[in-house]
Amino acid sequence: MRVTTHFALWLAGLAQAETQTTAAERACLAKHAAGRRRLVEVGVWHGVTTRVLRAVMDPTATLWAVDPYPVGRLKVSVQQLIAHREVASVRNGHVQWVRTTGADAAREHRVQGFPAPDFIFIDGDHSYEGLQADWTGWSPLVAPGGIIALHDSHSTPQRPLETAGSARYTNEVVMQEKNYERVETSDSLTVMRRRVS
Ligand SMILES: C[S@@+](CC[C@H](N)C(=O)[O-])C[C@H]1O[C@@H](n2cnc3c(N)ncnc32)[C@H](O)[C@@H]1O
Repeated sequence: MRVTTHFALWLAGLAQAETQTTAAERACLAKHAAGRRRLVEVGVWHGVTTRVLRAVMDPTATLWAVDPYPVGRLKVSVQQLIAHREVASVRNGHVQWVRTTGADAAREHRVQGFPAPDFIFIDGDHSYEGLQADWTGWSPLVAPGGIIALHDSHSTPQRPLETAGSARYTNEVVMQEKNYERVETSDSLTVMRRRVS
């Protein structure tokens, strides 16, 4: 469906915001994000998973919602318009919109000396280099015991990803990280926890 057609249908209440995550993946994200206080989502699109994270995080929490939202022919990002309204429909904590790439947002987070995130969901640029930039930017910033969840990180029967850059990077680099351990997988989602010592 064309972006403008979907937008018109969404405005009329005849189409839903879109996500490529499965119900099981969203339930897994919700479980690990519950009660967290400093959350980051890299790759927001229509805000479906952002809504999930916002609903379960601590009421005092901040969620940094990171997406460059490139503009289309209409000189606006329709995806951003949808996301802002979808995420505003959940009243909990604070959402900080960050319109840039995951790697630039990580650099800014470090430069500003913001507190260490305790939950990060990476679902942005799924190329090998894209995940590499997000992982190397964010993984050193996570608090001990904190979580990084990676979407499209391995194949499922419904979603073959053997040649996808994000799956190769997860297998070749993320799974070999000494500072992190895998705590769960759900469909194409891999959940890593930063070791405490
Ligand atoms: C798969 S969608 C995210 C879907 C969302 N997490 C959900 O399931 O509800 C990917 C998003 O990542 C964004 N994106 C692309 N490259 C990015 C990057 N380098 N850093 C952050 N976001 C990026 C795109 O603009 C797009 O909105």
